[in-house]
Amino acid sequence: MSRFYVTTPIYYVNDEPHIGHAYTTILADVVARFHRALGDETYFLTGTDEHGQKVQQAAEKRGVEPQQHVDEYVVRFQEKWDALNINYDQFIRTTQENHKTVVRYLLQKLWDKDLIYKDTYEGWYSVAEERFLTDNEYEEGEWRDVRRLSETNYWFKMSNYQEKLINYIHDNPDFIQPAFRKNEVLGFLRQELGDLCISRPKSRLNWGIDLPFDSDYVTYVWFDALTNYISAIGYPTETETFEKWWPVDFHLIGKDILTTHAVYWPTMLMAADLPMPKTIFAHGWWLIGDTKMSKSLGNVVRPLDLANEYGVDALRYFLMKEMTPGQDANFTLEAFINRYNSDLANDLGNMVNRITKLIGRNFDYSLPNPGETTPADADLAQHVAGLRQKVREEFDQMRVNYAITHVFDVLREINRYLEETAPWKLMKADKERAGTVLYNAAEALRLSAVHLYPVMPDKISQLLEVMGTSAQARLSEDDWFKWGHIKAGTILGKTEGLFPRIEIPETPEEAPFALDLKPEVTFDDFTKMDIRIVKIIGAEKHPNADKLLKLQVDLGAEQRQVIAGIADHYSPEDLLGKYVSIIANLKPVTIRGEISQGMILAADDGTSVSPLIPLKDVEPGSKVR
Ligand code: MSP
Repeated sequence: MSRFYVTTPIYYVNDEPHIGHAYTTILADVVARFHRALGDETYFLTGTDEHGQKVQQAAEKRGVEPQQHVDEYVVRFQEKWDALNINYDQFIRTTQENHKTVVRYLLQKLWDKDLIYKDTYEGWYSVAEERFLTDNEYEEGEWRDVRRLSETNYWFKMSNYQEKLINYIHDNPDFIQPAFRKNEVLGFLRQELGDLCISRPKSRLNWGIDLPFDSDYVTYVWFDALTNYISAIGYPTETETFEKWWPVDFHLIGKDILTTHAVYWPTMLMAADLPMPKTIFAHGWWLIGDTKMSKSLGNVVRPLDLANEYGVDALRYFLMKEMTPGQDANFTLEAFINRYNSDLANDLGNMVNRITKLIGRNFDYSLPNPGETTPADADLAQHVAGLRQKVREEFDQMRVNYAITHVFDVLREINRYLEETAPWKLMKADKERAGTVLYNAAEALRLSAVHLYPVMPDKISQLLEVMGTSAQARLSEDDWFKWGHIKAGTILGKTEGLFPRIEIPETPEEAPFALDLKPEVTFDDFTKMDIRIVKIIGAEKHPNADKLLKLQVDLGAEQRQVIAGIADHYSPEDLLGKYVSIIANLKPVTIRGEISQGMILAADDGTSVSPLIPLKDVEPGSKVR
């Protein structure tokens, strides 16, 4: 039996988890479930990073003690992970006594080996990054909140390991994945690697683990945090457990914490004479409509808002399918809904409905007998046969999105098979053949859908039950995977509501988060619209509608009538003589009996509405570009 150990980063407990955090944690859960289903002994570790400046500042801001702050905030992560059906084996908190003991043990070990020394350093210190910058970094990067600092600290002789690490990375192509990230790290290692400052004087920061050899200092938060990956599994006292799990199979991380994981952590392990992680896998970032997610932009997407609205498995599916390993991915509600409707409601959901309904109606929900096999049947079975291995290979490379694609390729084959054989037409003329086709389709569906179990554990359990097999995922059972394993006469269930279609919300207010951008348009698309400044030269109430105003506007070369739905916000007098903007080439329409030859552009925040006006005087008819 194989063993599989996977970790997520431990998250700072200064905020709510967003979809970026949820992504890594769901990814770890999906691969852990996959390995459990394969029968591997599996350990999945996640947790929270509770020391350091960021957390201390968050506590200060709230006016509470750091310990109280972390105790209150950690629950936000634990509850969210439960709600997202994250089945971790351990949730580690760096404020736990056993973790602190291990960090101190490790520091003492390196101190005893003369790998830590005390020195005064003057340099550029980034408050946001919580570390000294090299002169190069300072000159080349754009840093906020950087100050000159001279400080006496403890340093880990990281530079001792530069050559060794470079060689290790060259010799072990799987160590840093995807490959282009490996090259990034090698690029970084081309410059001289300095030593790592692993302490912070208490005069500046006291929320941390005391250095075992100098209680005037606390441990640098990254040295503390990285150690969680081994403290959680019994290092150094529970040797058996530790050796069972270490080295880890996958450290899953985001691309922004690559250096800490692929440089600091391996050198710490080398210094402690411990084996290297097997793979450090760095994924990209979730962007929101191509923009970075940030509180100040108000575009942070909270995973539970989506899960509550559309279902946990729908969210898990989207996140797994939409991100190509290593690359950034874009989140929009529209993409989420479209993906759900096309893959889950249409391809998968409709197929289950179709097969079970046909069997229900014509065979009383009892799986029909498969008769003689035709080339088309054999072809379908052939498509299914290779799937298990393909999915396995993708999971080994952490390419969950490709694994999903393979499954949907087979689902589309099943659809094609059904279209070609059309069992609904055969039912009268050749019921036996119709039964064979439906048996084959059901069998193909069972054998492909099971691969989606790690991604959507609840929905696929339900689906498998409907298909007459137990909810247990059986990826490890060869028998279960034999074509024909499910016997004719098995009673199928009903599928109503497995993946109901989602209707696209009509107004932005119904969207569960702030920024809901429309799909991207090209510059050409934009130039198709003719936006002009007009002067309002006549304004009155629409004769047939309270909410509308009837405006006469001057476009320079001509005058037009425009109907605007702003009577709740403006009286005709407010608007008379004003310069506003309109779309001038919009196809005219008649609104409640009055022609409208254009549309006024106005900002709308849900409560107030404000027409867009030019800042300076311009001629009526001016183009807006
Ligand atoms: N506490 C450290 C990790 C220590 S691990 C020994 C930390 N915490 S964090 O909460 O700031 O970030 C945790 C993870 O979230 C990182 O992997 C980071 O890449 C990831 N993400 C933060 N924003 C993200 C997106 N918008 N998209 C995807 N992941 C992102 O760093």
